[in-house]
Amino acid sequence: MLQKNSVPSNSSVLSENGSDPILLERVLTRRSLSPMRLVEPGPTQKEIELMVSAALTAPDLGAVRPWRFISIDQAARDEITKIVSEAKARRGSNGRGSAVESERGHGARAPVQIAIIACLDPEHVDVPILQQYISVGAALQNMLLSADILGYGAMILSGDEMRDPDVIKALNVRWNEKLVALVCLGTCPRPAKPKRRLKVADHLTVWCGSNE
Ligand SMILES: Cc1cc2nc3c(=O)[nH]c(=O)nc-3n(C[C@H](O)[C@H](O)[C@H](O)COP(=O)(O)O)c2cc1C
Repeated sequence: MLQKNSVPSNSSVLSENGSDPILLERVLTRRSLSPMRLVEPGPTQKEIELMVSAALTAPDLGAVRPWRFISIDQAARDEITKIVSEAKARRGSNGRGSAVESERGHGARAPVQIAIIACLDPEHVDVPILQQYISVGAALQNMLLSADILGYGAMILSGDEMRDPDVIKALNVRWNEKLVALVCLGTCPRPAKPKRRLKVADHLTVWCGSNE
């Protein structure tokens, strides 16, 4: 029975079933880190490939493979930043100061950016679009977790700019695809504060049959 406010004890669960406590701890403590806090070095090409490899193990009903990943080459980072910044400025998502500046100081600061594209099959007879998006989300989470395990900070950024025609054109996003987000990656020089753990009992109930 789950008690309100209870958080299961990792150590007791793990010692009972003999699993790797370190790995589960990584999953339980993963948190996003703003690109403002990320510095060089970012993941190497081999590490990026490993993260994408982890993404590719995401559950994928009907083997639709509803994803595509574009690693932004370092030499092209300024160019994509400019295109995204201008899109942001046009759309008026201008918080503090100039949108261009704020974007430059945000995603652009991350040493590595990877664009996530959902390659959807809207006509698929067995796999509705929602399931396809869920696979993309699972792939994204696998990327974040593997980045964390490799020692990198990461954060997903998106916004209206992901639907901007210039951004879409620059990244060659096709008619049946959606630019979902940019994943920003780099090294966090200082240990990050642990994220507040949500209470499991607020999010998990147990169904005991319809007569209960
Ligand atoms: C698809 C997607 C897009 C997101 N886009 C943004 C964004 O544009 N800006 C932002 O500040 N956070 C965005 N987030 C949220 C952050 O990536 C992050 O998940 C959030 O700050 C909570 O941090 P946590 O992952 O440590 O819980 C997005 C998350 C997802 C899943």
